[in-house]
Amino acid sequence: MSEPRFTDVDSVREQLREVDYLSDEGIAGIVYLADRLGKPILVEGPAGTGKTQLAKSTAEILGARLVRLQCYEGLDESKALYEWNYKKQLLRIQATRSDDEDSGWADISDDIFSDEFLLTRPLLEAITADDPVVLLIDEVDRVEVETEALLLEILSDYQVSIPELGTIEAKQVPLVFLTSNNTRELSEALKRRCLYLHVDYPDMDREKEIVLTKVPEITESLADQVARIVRSVRQLELKKAPSVSETLDWANTLLLLGVDKVDAATASDTVNILLKYQSDIAKARKEFASDSEAFEGSSA
Ligand SMILES: Nc1ncnc2c1ncn2[C@@H]1O[C@H](COP(=O)(O)OP(=O)(O)OP(=O)(O)O)[C@@H](O)[C@H]1O
Ligand SMILES: [Mg+2]
Repeated sequence: MSEPRFTDVDSVREQLREVDYLSDEGIAGIVYLADRLGKPILVEGPAGTGKTQLAKSTAEILGARLVRLQCYEGLDESKALYEWNYKKQLLRIQATRSDDEDSGWADISDDIFSDEFLLTRPLLEAITADDPVVLLIDEVDRVEVETEALLLEILSDYQVSIPELGTIEAKQVPLVFLTSNNTRELSEALKRRCLYLHVDYPDMDREKEIVLTKVPEITESLADQVARIVRSVRQLELKKAPSVSETLDWANTLLLLGVDKVDAATASDTVNILLKYQSDIAKARKEFASDSEAFEGSSA
C-alpha cells in the first residue's frame, strides 16, 4: 500500500480551499477515503456543480499531473487504452525482411509487439506513469454501456492486459475520478468498483463563498444577494436550473455593470446570463416582478 496522501478530512478541505475549491464535509470526506481505500470516485450530479473541477483541484494540491480521458460516444480501446503503431511496425518488417532473409515471423512479431511500438492512451498512460498522477475519466455516461468494460480492469486492479505483451501493472495507485451527468444508468459492475459522490448545487453559504473566492472584487452584500436570488430561481420549475458557473457569470456581469444592489428590474434585465431557455427566463421574470421582497437582502 502506498503512503497516504492526506492526514485527515479537514486537511483535504483546507487544502482544496487554498486552491479556490470550496468543498464540504461530504466531498472532502470521499476524497480522503478514496485515497485511504485505494478506490476510484464516481462523481455524479447536475451540470456545472464542480465535478470536473474537483479532479483538477485535487491534482493541483497534490502537485500531480492530471491525465484526462474525455469520454464521448464511439470512444474505443485505441483512444482510451493503447494502440499499436502500425506504420512503424510495417517499416520495421520491411527493414528486417531486406536485411536478413532468415528471420522468421516469430522473431519479427516479438520485436514489433514490444513497448517501442505501443502508443499509450490516457488509461495506460496513467498507470505506467512514474510521476504522481490524478486520472480523470470525464463524462463517463457518454460512452455506450458496452464500452464501460474497457474501464473495469483498470478500476479494480490498476492494470491493463495487452494480449501480445501480457499484463501491465500500475507502478502506483493513482487517484481516479469519474464524472457523470447521469444521462443514463451506469453499469452495476462500474458502480461497484467506485466510491459514490453526489455533488449537488451548493447551499447558499457555500455558493456565496464560491462567488467571493472566484469574483474577488465583489462586495460581500452583493455576493450574498446573488447567492440568495440564485437559490430562489432554482426553486422554480425550470427546464434547466442555473449552475454554479452561471452564478459566477451573473456575478461578473453585475460587477461589470456597476450594480451594487440587485433590484427586480436589474434581475429581469440580466437573468438571460443565468438561464438559457426563453420559457425559463419568462418564468423567472414573472417571479421577480411579483416577489420584490426577495430583493430586500438579508436585513431580517
Ligand atoms: N465548489 C466549487 N468551488 C469553486 N469553484 C467551483 C465549485 N463548483 C463549481 N465551481 C466553478 O464552476 C465551474 C464549473 O465547474 P465544473 O466544470 O467542474 O462543473 P461540472 O460539474 O464538471 O459540469 P459539467 O457536468 O457541465 O461538466 C468551474 O469553473 C468552477 O470554477
Ligand atoms: Mg465536467
